[in-house]
Amino acid sequence: MFRSRPALPALPPSLSMFDPVYVADDETGRPVCLDMADQVGIILAGEPGSGKSVGLANIVAHGALSYADCRLTLMDGALVELGIWRACADVFVGPDINHAISVLEKQQQEITECCEMLLDTRRRKVVQGDGDPMHLTVIDELAYFSATVGTKAEREKFNTTLRDCSARGRKCARRYVLATQRPSSDIVPTSLRDLFGYRWAFRCATDDSSDVVLGRGTAKTGYTAAAIPDTARGVGLLRAEGKRVPRRVKAAYLTDDELHRIAARAAVLRGRS
Ligand SMILES: Nc1ncnc2c1ncn2[C@@H]1O[C@H](COP(=O)(O)OP(=O)(O)OP(=O)(O)O)[C@@H](O)[C@H]1O
Ligand SMILES: [Mg+2]
Repeated sequence: MFRSRPALPALPPSLSMFDPVYVADDETGRPVCLDMADQVGIILAGEPGSGKSVGLANIVAHGALSYADCRLTLMDGALVELGIWRACADVFVGPDINHAISVLEKQQQEITECCEMLLDTRRRKVVQGDGDPMHLTVIDELAYFSATVGTKAEREKFNTTLRDCSARGRKCARRYVLATQRPSSDIVPTSLRDLFGYRWAFRCATDDSSDVVLGRGTAKTGYTAAAIPDTARGVGLLRAEGKRVPRRVKAAYLTDDELHRIAARAAVLRGRS
């Protein structure tokens, strides 16, 4: 007589990358979430040690735990921040600009195919519930690829391909999360930066630097990340698309131990360990 196999333990319900992503608390202690469902993505910027990678980790953690509907591409010029999540990533790019370019070119091709599929199925964009995943691409130390290594032609290729993916990818549920110390035009081409409605300015050295992140003239209206004390790590001004004034928030902090535990759990949920 055959005995039935013991049932595999059911997976816990997946988070969804289409749902709001908890990233910070506001000044009254209320949770602050990013709604990535209809965004190009977000740019995080601020001086060294101001808290960008800590802020970024909250988004990556949510993406990694959204195992049912989030494909993860991670690029890290410095390797160590996003390297923790390597086992969860569908694609991981370290400090290699040619690898980064080839990954973005593949995304470009996939976006073209996705747009054709949307047209064929009489849809204008991928939305939650229609069975297509969100593709989250997170780039820490963006300047490494966009302005530092490789030849001028390679950097330009990286920037133009990333801009096309960000611009056309929104319809195909592609989201881009970019972290850099300063998103000035020599580091992030203005045509790329201006696509992003969400901006998160951590402490900046000057009002001008803060305005580069939050938009020209914002400091004059009283909102400047240069006013954040340099001891207040993780504090920043978050500007969301459609909101006229940025909110002062403090990024949620995951310890190294918590990050490793979440990454290991997400890797298991994704069948990667
Ligand atoms: N939200 C936070 N809560 C508590 N501590 C924080 C927070 N954000 C940052 N820190 C502290 O500041 C340190 C530097 O933060 P982080 O690595 O995120 O800076 P960064 O802006 O990414 O710097 P870099 O430009 O050098 O990459 C962290 O290791 C942590 O000790
Ligand atoms: Mg960092």
